[in-house]
Amino acid sequence: LPVPIAHILDKGPADAEDVVINGFVRSIRNQKQRSFASIGDGSSLEPLQALLTPEQAQSLTAGTAVRLSGAWKPSPNPKAQSHELHVTGVDVIGAADPTTFPLQKKYQTPEYLRTIPHLRTRLPFNSTLLRFRSACIAEITLALSRDGYTQTHTPIITSSDCEGAGEVFNVGSTHKAPVGENDDGSFFRSPKYLTVSSQLHLEALAQSVGNVWTLSPTFRAEKSDTARHLSEFYMLEIEMSFVEDMNVVMDAAEKLIQCMTRPLLSSRVGREILASKDPNNPHPDEKRPENLRRRWEGILSGPWPRITYTEAIRLLQSSKRKFDHKPEWGSGLQAEHERYIADKVGVEGSPVFVTHYPRSIKPFYMLPAANNNDTAETVECFDLLLPEVCEVVGGSMREYRVEQLLVSMQSNGLIPPGPLSSISDEQLGELKWYVDLRRWGSVPHGGFGLGFDRLLGYLAGVQNIREIVPFPRWVGRCEC
Ligand code: 4AD
Ligand code: MG
Repeated sequence: LPVPIAHILDKGPADAEDVVINGFVRSIRNQKQRSFASIGDGSSLEPLQALLTPEQAQSLTAGTAVRLSGAWKPSPNPKAQSHELHVTGVDVIGAADPTTFPLQKKYQTPEYLRTIPHLRTRLPFNSTLLRFRSACIAEITLALSRDGYTQTHTPIITSSDCEGAGEVFNVGSTHKAPVGENDDGSFFRSPKYLTVSSQLHLEALAQSVGNVWTLSPTFRAEKSDTARHLSEFYMLEIEMSFVEDMNVVMDAAEKLIQCMTRPLLSSRVGREILASKDPNNPHPDEKRPENLRRRWEGILSGPWPRITYTEAIRLLQSSKRKFDHKPEWGSGLQAEHERYIADKVGVEGSPVFVTHYPRSIKPFYMLPAANNNDTAETVECFDLLLPEVCEVVGGSMREYRVEQLLVSMQSNGLIPPGPLSSISDEQLGELKWYVDLRRWGSVPHGGFGLGFDRLLGYLAGVQNIREIVPFPRWVGRCEC
C-alpha cells in the first residue's frame, strides 16, 4: 500500500525493498544514464528523491501525479539526503503539460500565486501551512477540552451586527441579483448578515453549559487593503461564565496562544516551518529560523505585560517618535501606535495586553470598568498586541445587568431614548433575545475573539495574511 512520504523520510536509515508512494513530481533532472525526480505528496516539506532510468522518467514532468514503487536505499550523497528510492515501477496517474503548468520551479511572486489559489497549496511551503493549521486546531481542541470547555457551533447567518461597525455583508436573496440590483433580504423577510463575530450567541451558550469556544468563519465588509485584513477569516472565540475578574479571561487567552506555540519547538511541522524559505522573499532570508525561534520564545515567556489604554496613550505622547496619527485619549490606537507599544512594553518579544479603553470607542455590550480611577469613562476590555502584527485578540467583560444594558443600547442608538419601562419588545428588535439573557439567571461573564489567521501567520513567519488562508478573500478579490 502507498505510504505518506513523511513516514518514509521519518523512518530514517531503515532500508526497505518494496516501498510504494503516491505524489506529484516537483522537479526532474535528466542525465544520460539516469534521472532524478523530486516527489512531494504534501505530507512533508522535504521531497523524496527517486532514481529512475531515462525510459522510466520519459513521461514525468513537473506537476505529474505518479505512483512509484521501488527499493529505499542509502544514497551515495548522504549530505543531500540519507536515502533515495530506486524505482522499479512507474504509474502515471495524471499527466501535466509542462508547457502550461503554472507552478514552475522558480521564484513566483506572492501576487501571481494568489491568482492560482487552487494550485498554490501544492507548493511545499503552502502545504506545510495547511498541516500547521490542522495541527494547531488539534492542539487547542485537546487543550480546551481538557480544561473543561465545550466546543460549540454558532450561526453564520445572523440578525445583528455585534461590533456595531456597519461592516456587514447582507444575505437573504435567493437569486443571483443582476448587477446593480439591490438585495432585498426577501428570503428571511428581514435583513440578515454574515456574522462578524460569534460572541453574542456564545454568551447564550456559556450560560447554558459553562465555558464554551468556537472556531468559526467571520466576515467583515471592511475596505482595508492591508497584510492583516481579510473579508472572510476564522475567529477563535471563548466565552467564560461566572467570571468577574477580567484577568481570568486574559489568563485564558495567554494560555491558549502558548498552547498553540509550544509544540512548534519539538514537532515535525515546527521544524519544517523553520526550514522553509520565506516564500515572499526571492532571496533566502538567512536569519529566518533564528528570528522565528525568537518570536516563539517571546510568546512562551510570561506572564505578558498588562497596561491600561490610558498608560499606553501617555507612553505614546511622551515618545519622541513622529506618528502619522497623533495619539490622543479618546481615539482608537492606530497600527503604528500598537506596534510602538508592543515594542516598548513587551518583554523580550512578548505580546502585550492593553486594557480599559474609552467607552465611546467600544461596542455597546461591554461592562463599565470596575475600578475606574480615571475621571473619564472606560470599559472592562482588552486588546492583545503582537509585535509587528499588532492586534490579534479583542476581548471584554460583558454587561450582564438588564437596565444598564438597555441604557448602553440607548446611548449607542440601538433603541429609542426615554424611560426604560416604556421600551417595547418590538423596539428591542433583533436584540430582544440578547436582552432576554439578562432577565433570567444572568451571570457575570466575559470572553475574547482571537484572529486565528493573524496568529498563524505570525507563528509561521508569513508576511501577508493572504498566504495563510488557502482561498483568501479581501476587498475587490474573491478568486475560486
Ligand atoms: O476585535 P474584534 O473585532 O472583536 C470581536 O469581534 C469580539 N466580538 C470578539 C469577542 O469578544 N468574542 O475581532 C477579534 C479579532 C481581532 O483582534 C483580529 O485579530 C481579528 O479578530 N480580526 C481580523 N482578522 C483578519 N481580518 C480582519 N478583517 C479582521 N478583523 C478582526
Ligand atoms: Mg478589536
